[in-house]
Amino acid sequence: MVTKSRLLKIFMAASAIIFSGSVLAHGNVSPQAVDVSTLPVIGEEWVEENPYRNEDDSTLLEEAVKIGKSAFNQNCARCHGLGGVSGGIAPDLRETLTPDAEGDEWFMYRIRNGAERNGITYMPKFEGIMAQEAMWALKSWLDTCDPEVDDDSSCWVGDEKNSCLTAEGQCE
Ligand code: HEC
Repeated sequence: MVTKSRLLKIFMAASAIIFSGSVLAHGNVSPQAVDVSTLPVIGEEWVEENPYRNEDDSTLLEEAVKIGKSAFNQNCARCHGLGGVSGGIAPDLRETLTPDAEGDEWFMYRIRNGAERNGITYMPKFEGIMAQEAMWALKSWLDTCDPEVDDDSSCWVGDEKNSCLTAEGQCE
């Protein structure tokens, strides 16, 4: 049976493909602002571990996941694919980014510095463009994308398996 939410996901995947097509056609795309006004301010110092992960306040984590998902779709999905499932251009972020201090460190290094080799920018740097709060919100959402999720509970976007969950453990 084709459910309403599945149709919606197919539609979203289709519009993302159209969107990424127009992105390629227009070359560089400026990063989209991420509204973090509903998250507590972290401050100037860079923290080493996701401050929202061990948050006792689950509504705060939910908010971070929500903001992170939207920030990802606006700033990262065109290269990294919907749900962090690689679209072929950039690595599959679900494989390398573990939801722990080690994964946090690698994530922060890459998002702050981008990736540039021999004068070629493979990934733009986001430091100075995106607030630290937005970066950790992104990581909070990515932490919900577990490639090991079994088939029964996995979520789909179009034909892509997308196992990212909402903070409540629901498929997106
Ligand atoms: C213009 C395309 C592009 C955009 C936009 C982009 N990335 Fe990347 N990203 C890449 C590429 C390409 C690599 C691989 C870099 C390399 O070859 O070292 C990468 C690598 C990474 C890595 C390291 C992954 C690994 O397996 O080592 C992380 C983490 C990452 N990106 C996160 C993000 C996040 C979060 C965003 C959005 C804020 C983002 N990227 C936006 C292209 C992009």
